[in-house]
Amino acid sequence: MSKMIPDLEGAFREFVPPRDAVLLELEQEARREGIPIIGPVVGQFLHILARAMQAKQILELGTATGYSAIYLARACEGLKGKVVTLEKDERMAKRAQANFKKVGLEHRIEIRVADALAEVTTMKGPFDFIFLDIDKEGYLPLLSHCHRLLKTEGLIVADNVGFHAANNFNRALFQSPQWKSVHLLSFLPYHSPEKDGLCLALRT
Ligand SMILES: C[S@@+](CC[C@H](N)C(=O)[O-])C[C@H]1O[C@@H](n2cnc3c(N)ncnc32)[C@H](O)[C@@H]1O
Repeated sequence: MSKMIPDLEGAFREFVPPRDAVLLELEQEARREGIPIIGPVVGQFLHILARAMQAKQILELGTATGYSAIYLARACEGLKGKVVTLEKDERMAKRAQANFKKVGLEHRIEIRVADALAEVTTMKGPFDFIFLDIDKEGYLPLLSHCHRLLKTEGLIVADNVGFHAANNFNRALFQSPQWKSVHLLSFLPYHSPEKDGLCLALRT
């Protein structure tokens, strides 16, 4: 019988992707201030997904200090793509904007200070890729807008779907014929929290 690696979580901590000084600084800041960010594993995951599908138009809901938006912007930089990111907290948005300048990506990212639930109602697509990371109660009300804003075969990635407040979204997505979805229960070093669910859904 095949044996598992003992201390699987410890072993997988070896495979946390490397990152530059700015991302490391944002991680330290997030730990200090209790800002929930996706961390390097999910960052790399988003980067790989966006690159693999050649996403050019990316929408992010929930910016915080801009950590995840930097991963997304770097993923579409080669295609001269664009990330639109929505943040309701003005002070966070200012910090994110400063971080985008610090990494030289301010031309690639448009940050809007807005409540995502209101802002999406007037937005026009099509986007190739949407990353959901706002308060989890907001996921379900956003779902129909995500469908309208995504191109056919566009992708949603939703973070923190292990949270109780995301469960109505999980169920709706799983049951909907408009999406082909997968829910991954994951171990994610440096993610907030480290054991959580991630969801990927393709717009049909
Ligand atoms: C989990 S943090 C985002 C972390 C970020 N995506 C990262 O990994 O670097 C969630 C952010 O979404 C913002 N937020 C929550 N609900 C929102 C809403 N309805 N509209 C816009 N922003 C919202 C919060 O202010 C917070 O900064």
